[in-house]
Amino acid sequence: MNMRPDDMVRITTPELAQKFIDEQVAEIRSQVGDKKVLLALSGGVDSSVVAALLIKAIGKQLVCVHVNHGLMRKGESEQVIEVFRDQLDANLIYIDATDRFLDLLKDVEEPETKRKIIGGEFIKVFDEEARKLEGISFLAQGTIYPDILESDGVKAHHNVGGLPEDMQFELVEPVRLLFKDEVRVVGNQLGLPANMVYRQPFPGPGLGVRCLGAITRDRLAALRESDAILREEFENAGLTSKIWQFFTIVPDFRSTGVRDGKRVFDWPVIIRAVNTVDAMTATVPEVEFALLRKIADRILAEVPGVCRVLYDLSPKGPATIEWE
Ligand code: XMP
Repeated sequence: MNMRPDDMVRITTPELAQKFIDEQVAEIRSQVGDKKVLLALSGGVDSSVVAALLIKAIGKQLVCVHVNHGLMRKGESEQVIEVFRDQLDANLIYIDATDRFLDLLKDVEEPETKRKIIGGEFIKVFDEEARKLEGISFLAQGTIYPDILESDGVKAHHNVGGLPEDMQFELVEPVRLLFKDEVRVVGNQLGLPANMVYRQPFPGPGLGVRCLGAITRDRLAALRESDAILREEFENAGLTSKIWQFFTIVPDFRSTGVRDGKRVFDWPVIIRAVNTVDAMTATVPEVEFALLRKIADRILAEVPGVCRVLYDLSPKGPATIEWE
């Protein structure tokens, strides 16, 4: 049964996390035996914790597939490889599908169509990889308790729930009864890096819904670089744990600027930062003006093709958190 028992203790301490890990390791071993398990490893908190648990339980019987759709934040795919392949010695298949995704998304402007293409292609790439592998009996998923409460238990943004009929495996979902904060405590206890465990929410379609309109490689590069600068500066200012979600957006219109005495026609970058409890409503935090100016100066100096930086002052509602 997939319901959390009323008397289940909340995992709030390293000791409770260790108890959970020991129990799950035993349970996974008895469920899986000597068979192989497949996992789509996005690098998000939930799939990373599931990967680390499974590696502890069954080592190389776990096959992780990380699909880079070209819409990851700067350094994210690299971190997945470093942590799971290099440090934890996992069986990790890395697929750089950037060109595939960007070719399909070329000239596509409508946000929901972009989402559908990204989700659909993700399933396709994952399915193709899964078919190349032999002897897979189980599919691991980072389903957490709110996913079960809010939907039919299939984690929409992981997209693997949409695998074709003949690719259905028995599921391994070791964190299915945990809330997000508990998953983080378990991730910590498993030794995953703090910036992975405390990662802010990141939409499944990734930077694809922040590079507004039809995605182009130049604007996507500007988005990735500006986002990395924002993250670095907020981190240095100690804001990472105080602001719920923050990122940049690059719209699909240009404005006039001047650089080295010459007129330019370049992209703006919009900074978005919000605080919220449940993402249904959100407020805009007051960020030190000096810090905003420093971030703007860095983006303007370091990111090619950008001539303006703006700070979005709009709460949710009427605005949404993302721009698309
Ligand atoms: P909005 O923009 O609706 O966002 O105020 C609320 C929260 O949901 C995230 N978000 C998504 N997450 N797939 C996801 O997995 C998506 O397509 C998607 N769109 C928005 C957003 O980042 C925010 O945390």
